[in-house]
Amino acid sequence: MELAELKTQYKLPNHICFIIDGNGRWAKQHHLPRSQGHIKGANKLSKIYKMVREIGIKYVSIYAFSTDNWNRPKEEVDGLMKLFKRAVKEFYDKKKYSDCRIEFLGDLSKFDADIKQSAFDIMEKTKDNTAFHINLCLNYGGREDIVQAVNKLIASGKTQVTMEDISVNLYTHNCPDPDFIVRTSGEHRLSNFMPWQSTYAELYFPKVLWPDFSKKDLIEAIREYSSRDRRFGAIKE
Ligand code: IPE
Ligand code: IPE
Ligand code: MG
Repeated sequence: MELAELKTQYKLPNHICFIIDGNGRWAKQHHLPRSQGHIKGANKLSKIYKMVREIGIKYVSIYAFSTDNWNRPKEEVDGLMKLFKRAVKEFYDKKKYSDCRIEFLGDLSKFDADIKQSAFDIMEKTKDNTAFHINLCLNYGGREDIVQAVNKLIASGKTQVTMEDISVNLYTHNCPDPDFIVRTSGEHRLSNFMPWQSTYAELYFPKVLWPDFSKKDLIEAIREYSSRDRRFGAIKE
C-alpha cells in the first residue's frame, strides 16, 4: 500500500511520537555489541521521517536519549553522542530537510559545544519552515521540562500559574500535544516522555525492536490509531 493513500482510509494523528526502544536487545539477538544496535537504530530515523511525511502527518517526535540514559556505561554514551553529532550534521547538510522545522527538545547544555552550537543553529535556521516538523528529544526528561517551565515562570515574576502558562513554556511549545505515542520493543511505559502533554494521547506498544521497525509496522500503527475511539472525557451521542 502507498503511504500517501492511508489518509483516504484511516484517521491520522497530527502529532506522532516514537519512543525508539530495543536497540540493545536487537544487538544481543544478533550477537553484536550494543553500539551496533544503536547504529542500526539511528540509521532508521531518516526513513521514518520520510515515511511519516509521506503519510501526511505534520509533526513527529523521536525520544532518542533521556536524562536517565547518562547512567549507562561511558562507552555506550560516547557512542550515542557520536550518532547524535551525525544526526545533527545531517539535518544541516541534507537538502531533503530544507523545508522542515527541526527542533531539539531537552537540556542541550550537557552536550559538547559543537553539537550544542549546531543544534541551536539548525533550530534558528529552520524556525519559519512549516512543511513538516521534526522534534529530536535529546537529554529529554518530561518532569525536568515541567520544572524548567515553572522556574521560568517564577523568574518572570508569576506567583500563580495556569495550565496554558506551563504549556507555552515547555520545550514542546511549538507543537500540538501528541495524538499517538508508539513505543517499540513491547515495554509498556513512557519512561518520562511528555507526561504533561500525553494525558489524552493514544498509546501503542508493538513488540518489534526499533532497528526492525518497518513500513509495514508503521502502517499497522496507523491502522491501530485509526481504530481508537478518542473521547477526551466526553461521551458520544
Ligand atoms: C533505545 O534502545 C535507545 C536508547 C535508549 C538510547 P535501548 O538501548 O534502550 O535498547 P534495550 O532496551 O536495551 O533493548
Ligand atoms: C526510554 O528507553 C528512553 C529512550 C528510548 C530514549 P529506556 O530503555 O532508557 O527506558 P527504560 O529504562 O526501559 O524505562
Ligand atoms: Mg531500552
